[in-house]
Amino acid sequence: MSEITNIPQMNEMLAPQPDILMECFAAVPRGAEEIAAAELESLGVQSVHVGRGGVAFVAGRAGLYRANLWLRTASRVLVQLTVFPCATPAELYAGVHAIDWVKYVTPDMTLAVDCSLRDSTLTHSGFVALKTKDAIVDRIREACGNRPNVDTAAPDVRVNVHLRKNVCTVSLDSSGDPLDRRGYRLERNEAPLRETLAAAVVALTGWDGATPLADPMCGSGTVPIEAALVAGRVAPGLQRSFGFQRWLDYDDRLWQQLLAEAGGRIQKLPTGLITGYDFDSRALKLASRNAAKAGFEGQIHFFHAALETFQPEGEAGVVIINPPYGKRLGEEEDLKELYCQIGDIMKKRCRGWTGYVLTGNLELAKYIGLKASRRFVLFNGAIECRLLKYELY
Ligand SMILES: C[S@@+](CC[C@H](N)C(=O)[O-])C[C@H]1O[C@@H](n2cnc3c(N)ncnc32)[C@H](O)[C@@H]1O
Repeated sequence: MSEITNIPQMNEMLAPQPDILMECFAAVPRGAEEIAAAELESLGVQSVHVGRGGVAFVAGRAGLYRANLWLRTASRVLVQLTVFPCATPAELYAGVHAIDWVKYVTPDMTLAVDCSLRDSTLTHSGFVALKTKDAIVDRIREACGNRPNVDTAAPDVRVNVHLRKNVCTVSLDSSGDPLDRRGYRLERNEAPLRETLAAAVVALTGWDGATPLADPMCGSGTVPIEAALVAGRVAPGLQRSFGFQRWLDYDDRLWQQLLAEAGGRIQKLPTGLITGYDFDSRALKLASRNAAKAGFEGQIHFFHAALETFQPEGEAGVVIINPPYGKRLGEEEDLKELYCQIGDIMKKRCRGWTGYVLTGNLELAKYIGLKASRRFVLFNGAIECRLLKYELY
């Protein structure tokens, strides 16, 4: 996180009124940091700085709530409490214990600690999380005579501790459940794309809803649905709750105001704007149900069709394809033909359109046989993927 001066300590930050600026960090899948930074700038937050795996920014309570509600590509938004040097368990305990925890957690609340480590002397994340939890509950017991319980599944307050090069950052996780859990995915199919990654793909294509968008291998419909959220100006977090709603300083009036503002912006999608196709009828059923849950019943058009018969409607638009990429032995061989077919179909049936293929397998991508005009690196969890762009003149 970049150094930002003149920021009050978090102890003051969560005081009820007036609104005080907080140092925040939006964690983002690698490769999507610049997109998330652009999203944050459009939300009007301050001091946006791109880092590896995330974007630092400064916001008041409204900015923090807005970031959770509107960010399409971030996986969570953290609010920094403190940063200190930490190479030993004693330093960790002292640094965490120094925070005035009763301002954030009372004995009747529950808490959980998430931990990530990199290039540090302390190497066991379970130990660091446990030591952090001990320091928090000890501090609260000293002040209140009683301690909060741990609930790793649905805590009132989720604490995030991040150690990098023996520097420890302790934050509150304002999102709670990760932001990719929009609330529209009803069941998981075999290889669904994470919502935040699908949103990053749509953003990288530059698609803004002015031309048609088609996904010929749509699976559970993540790309069409994320595109619909963009075109329909729907806040991706409109259907879910967030960690900050359980915080002691939660301002429900402000939140209701932001929800009403977001609700008022929603637009209905034009017929035929977004289409999805798949040869797996089970996946398509899921896609339709997910789309309905996301609020797009009858607005995204799904067709049961194999790639061989795919023909997009309209003279120009964006085709986004997320083919299987063969993680298991033997699958790769079978998929070569499919990737050849993708190249063929884009060349012959999508003239005038712009094609994009997202794959985690660069060897298979060669079988597309067309020259990519751009390549974007994106991470699907630990898998390094490429989003390849094809101008289909
Ligand atoms: C990696 S998955 C796509 C996942 C999707 N993006 C999602 O979020 O659920 C690939 C999809 O391609 C479909 N598929 C594979 N071969 C196909 C073909 N020849 N024609 C149409 N669909 C195909 C599979 O049924 C599967 O749903």
